[in-house]
Amino acid sequence: MPLSPLLVRDADRLADALAALDRDGPGIAAVVDGAGRMVGTLSGGCIRAFLTRGGRLDQPAGAAMSADGSSAPAGAGDARIEVDGAGRPVAIASPASARRIPIAEPVLGGNELRYVTECVQTNWISSQGSFVRRFEDMLGELVGSQHVVSCSNGTAALHLALLGLGIGPGDEVIVPDLTFAASINTIIHAGATPVIVDVDRASWNISPAAVEAALTPRTRAIMPVHLYGQPADMDALQAIAARRGLRLVEDAAEAIGAALHGRACGTIGDAGTFSFFSNKVITTGEGGAVVFREAEAAQRARRLRDHGMNPAKRYWHDEVGYNYRLTNLQAAIGCAQLEQAPKFLARKQEIAARYRAGLARATGIEMAAEIPGHRNSYWMVSVIVDAAATGLERDEIMRRLGEAGIDTRPLFYPLHEMAPYRPHAGNRDFPATTGLSRQGFSLPSGVGLTDPEIDYVCATLVRMIEARGAARAAAAAR
Ligand SMILES: Cc1ncc(COP(=O)(O)O)c(C=O)c1O
Repeated sequence: MPLSPLLVRDADRLADALAALDRDGPGIAAVVDGAGRMVGTLSGGCIRAFLTRGGRLDQPAGAAMSADGSSAPAGAGDARIEVDGAGRPVAIASPASARRIPIAEPVLGGNELRYVTECVQTNWISSQGSFVRRFEDMLGELVGSQHVVSCSNGTAALHLALLGLGIGPGDEVIVPDLTFAASINTIIHAGATPVIVDVDRASWNISPAAVEAALTPRTRAIMPVHLYGQPADMDALQAIAARRGLRLVEDAAEAIGAALHGRACGTIGDAGTFSFFSNKVITTGEGGAVVFREAEAAQRARRLRDHGMNPAKRYWHDEVGYNYRLTNLQAAIGCAQLEQAPKFLARKQEIAARYRAGLARATGIEMAAEIPGHRNSYWMVSVIVDAAATGLERDEIMRRLGEAGIDTRPLFYPLHEMAPYRPHAGNRDFPATTGLSRQGFSLPSGVGLTDPEIDYVCATLVRMIEARGAARAAAAAR
């Protein structure tokens, strides 16, 4: 990693070393002697341990350091400081020193190349070809749906879901404030009126109470979004929908593999959509699919996907449609990905569990709640920062993680704050979304993430917070 280590002289006062440690980088410093040779490492954790043993901040830094010349003391996942031939520190090496740890990248190690080659060799590269049907069948099997319509992306899938259910001008569709813009954009594309409501602080998903409060005689549908893989409260939403005769369109773009009481997200409502963009758990590069409860809605969506053309009469158009088709090339990649779905989805659970264990010591960092009966598919492992507890703002933490070679993303901005969507916020309040959006961010979450990489991310975050904690405790003691 091209990150030069923070240097502290062994004779420097520990208080100054702590201030430097707290100010910069990932919370680890190389301790050097008068000749610039590394003699140990220093972190917030080892300073705190030293102070607990009765050490003082006016003592030299060398007294508190870990004397192992090559690594900090926290064990698994720690950064190593590399030295040159003369023993001088030159770089910090993470377990992933050869690469930046990405937020999410595709893993294409199965039959992807073989199937794409087959498309090229047989000349079936457009949306005609056997992989498209095979992909729809495989997806249907994975999620438990008989009516699967593949399409060009997750946004097209949402548009087709709404149109397939006959939702359009004059209809209001309730959508959460905390989501990717495609959710609300497609409601507008369909000619319907979005009604933005707040999310629930615990689940980060659409608040059933806020939905209740936003119902009007024009309400036609609710669009829950299973954010970052966490299932929305479909039981409560289904109860509202049943009572008011509303449609439920699940935006499961981020939630393939998520489930509620054993039912796959996307298949619980009247329609559900998936995205297969390259950062998703299952990818086709660009791609999407919508699954319907009713065959007729799927038929309509299939026609609209293909310019509104009558399937029995070529070039005869019954309605105004779109070209939203998935190509055989994309579907070929998708088939190879779906073959690996059980492995990918299981790995996602392992990644989340490892983060949960590794971040248990990170005071002020809250991972998404484990909700009984909900299977979070953890598209993104996201956390909320309590800046009062960490002493570090979300953006500062993200910046420092970036310096340590760790890619992160902020949570989405509240829809109601952005100009195109503001008119759809009414005079409602959005405290939960606003708080989560300001405080939350996502950690590297890709299926290809290794255990040492997760450990490194956790150790970096913990060390950073510990250094701040030690600095605050020292300041308070002065
Ligand atoms: C919640 C949500 N809905 C819809 C989409 C749209 O999917 P796509 O990018 O495939 O169009 C995304 C994309 O990431 C998403 O996160």
